[in-house]
Amino acid sequence: MNNESVGQVTTERIVGVIGAGTMGAGIAHIAAQSGFVVETLDSSPDVVRKAYDGIRERVDSQVQKGRLPQHERDAIVGRLRVAEGFGCLKGAELVIEAAPEDLALKRKVLAEAEGVLDNGAVLATNTSSLSIAKLSEGLRRPERFIGIHFFNPAPVMNLTELIRGPQTSDHTLTLAVAFSNALGKTPIKVKDSPGFVVNRVARPFYLEALSLLESGFADVRTIDAAMREVGGYRMGPFELLDLIGLDVNLAVTTSVYEGFNRPARFAPSAIQKRLVEQGRLGRKTGRGFYDYSSNPPAIAFETSARSADAWTPGAAFAQFANVLGKPVDRAAYIYARIVAAVINEAARAAETIALPRDVDLGAKLGLNFPEGPMELADFAGLDVVLKLMQELHASDAAGRYEPAPLLIQRVQEGKLGEKSACGFLRHSL
Ligand SMILES: NC(=O)c1ccc[n+]([C@@H]2O[C@H](COP(=O)([O-])OP(=O)(O)OC[C@H]3O[C@@H](n4cnc5c(N)ncnc54)[C@H](O)[C@@H]3O)[C@@H](O)[C@H]2O)c1
Repeated sequence: MNNESVGQVTTERIVGVIGAGTMGAGIAHIAAQSGFVVETLDSSPDVVRKAYDGIRERVDSQVQKGRLPQHERDAIVGRLRVAEGFGCLKGAELVIEAAPEDLALKRKVLAEAEGVLDNGAVLATNTSSLSIAKLSEGLRRPERFIGIHFFNPAPVMNLTELIRGPQTSDHTLTLAVAFSNALGKTPIKVKDSPGFVVNRVARPFYLEALSLLESGFADVRTIDAAMREVGGYRMGPFELLDLIGLDVNLAVTTSVYEGFNRPARFAPSAIQKRLVEQGRLGRKTGRGFYDYSSNPPAIAFETSARSADAWTPGAAFAQFANVLGKPVDRAAYIYARIVAAVINEAARAAETIALPRDVDLGAKLGLNFPEGPMELADFAGLDVVLKLMQELHASDAAGRYEPAPLLIQRVQEGKLGEKSACGFLRHSL
């Protein structure tokens, strides 16, 4: 021991995690890896032990691959504690609840956690779809309560959405930002609303693909290939649907659809509902849009592609494709339909619930999109995007493509994107 360390007191920084499932285990892992002592509580300590076994397996594998020194592995594992009851959360500076998505259950555990926490501690929820305002009802210190929405897998995905309730204090928000940063995450601030930013802006990515499939414009493989090859996406919408689980994805769509009072643009797809009813949930059941019994997976959903032959490109689509240097063909049209719908939703979100910059961060870090919808729109030109939306809108009676008010407003103001130094974002010329 050297002189400097004589008399030094190292204070443990404790984080509590409620629920040791997919998300709780991931959050416990990244928190322990970031130096926090983690007390995880589940309905039984055995569930936590099992979750910790999974974390140990993952860090052991990192050691074997030479990605993590043994002493760091030992330190991470040493910081994982099994909470035997709510009393073990006392002393935590922050407790995050990752229990099942059930309002009554979450309210109950949040109230119990609040009962043991110090007045200065932050109480957080990882809910994906419940209202932060509703969850805060009944809490004695709602000013210390906040949504910190992690993404799966939590140790890997470098984004958190921070959602204030009606009474969340500035200080609590600051602490949630600091906590996110301490875990190596980029936090974005989002208003309490259905799907927050990421799940909301992701909806058209799936729903437009499903709509193209349903209309017979193209088959599953063609749509996936268009997004990968024309758009540079890592995975196509159907590959992702199969990976996430058609049921899980449908539950998110339904909750956003209901949350916004059923607008046509969020209406769940009949194809997806049917596959879920048939138990074809994707990779986890071996079959969804693809069949995973062979490698590479075979197509498991046939479409007659009945409308494809009759297609002629519209003028606004052709202009959009031209400015982006894409060919004016069917693959680029698939890409254009999907990204235009994503941009339009992003513009709605940017007008009401988050900064345009944060919408882009959410799409890139939370969805692995190759570029943010706001920056893509600014690159293409907002006037060009607006014309494309108007062209799509004119051919759809349901109103799914009605241009977002912010898109119209920016074009009227002459804020057209990179070419005028300002669009959704600011640019230097
Ligand atoms: N899975 C995802 O991709 C994802 C992503 C972001 C946010 N979320 C949200 O995170 C939360 C948890 O989701 P998940 O996928 O980890 O669920 P999960 O079902 O994998 O885990 C939930 C855990 O909570 C435990 N639990 C049940 N009742 C409890 C109680 N009374 N006290 C303590 N623990 C209890 C369960 O035993 C289980 O281990 C949900 O709110 C979900 O919406 C999920």
